[in-house]
Amino acid sequence: MNRFEGKVAIVTGGGSGIGEAIARRLSAEGACVVISGRTEKRLEDTARTLPAERVLPVTADVARRADCDALVAAAVERFGRLDTLVNAAGMNLVGRIQDTSDEDWEACLGSDLGGVFYMMRASIPHLVRTKGSIVNIGSVSSLGGGWSHAAYNAAKAGVANLTRSAACDLGRFGVRANTVAPGLTVTGMVDKIMDDEALLEKAWERIPLRRAGQPEEIASAVAFLASDEAQWITGAVLPVDGGQTCTDGGPEWGR
Ligand SMILES: NC(=O)c1ccc[n+]([C@@H]2O[C@H](COP(=O)([O-])OP(=O)(O)OC[C@H]3O[C@@H](n4cnc5c(N)ncnc54)[C@H](O)[C@@H]3O)[C@@H](O)[C@H]2O)c1
Repeated sequence: MNRFEGKVAIVTGGGSGIGEAIARRLSAEGACVVISGRTEKRLEDTARTLPAERVLPVTADVARRADCDALVAAAVERFGRLDTLVNAAGMNLVGRIQDTSDEDWEACLGSDLGGVFYMMRASIPHLVRTKGSIVNIGSVSSLGGGWSHAAYNAAKAGVANLTRSAACDLGRFGVRANTVAPGLTVTGMVDKIMDDEALLEKAWERIPLRRAGQPEEIASAVAFLASDEAQWITGAVLPVDGGQTCTDGGPEWGR
């Protein structure tokens, strides 16, 4: 498929994990991709593996408004337009509410929710011009609370509702905004979990497909929502989670 031929996409967090898989997928389907993150070397390593004339690595911390404005400006300056914004940058913060410091709260909300806001706001004038679309990476915790991730869960719930609000505000301009909500996905963010056999056994009891996802499986959902095939879909939160959020939370009865 070549759904993104002639289109330009920004992918934050594009140097690793889910963001990298999204950048690869959009590039493979013809897009020019601007990959962004905080680590220049990682971005350059990823950029080297994509078609040179259709990739631009840009270092930016999405928690900083000025970086977000500069990132969007660099994308439009290099490729002349912006069709797709994917916000995949994010930090995980493990911690119960009673143990979460002011600094951790601010860092997590700043990166995971503030960054999504800054990137969307900076991109909107360009997306209006192309009738483009936004796909934000939320989480299963966009859809429900959970243990030991108070700030992260708050930020990811915020991402889903900010995205719905953007869908409302931007619909009249033909701009769509959707959230993809991954469940456990094999990336560096969760390597400690993936090494913990006992914990994984417990996880499979809550995930009907009984495995973790691969970044490419998140990327294919993102590519669908960003493409014209999804032109009637806006404000949606699409779980890509092996079924984790389709349960009522009860145990596996009657086995
Ligand atoms: N891996 C999972 O199980 C899982 C599940 C649900 C949601 N997610 C979400 O998917 C997204 C991608 O995560 P991943 O699993 O690929 O992990 P990852 O750590 O490989 O990728 C996250 C990237 O975001 C970057 N980043 C973090 N804060 C940033 C900031 N302030 N500015 C710029 N870049 C920043 C990191 O450096 C990293 O490159 C995140 O939003 C994460 O919350 C992941």
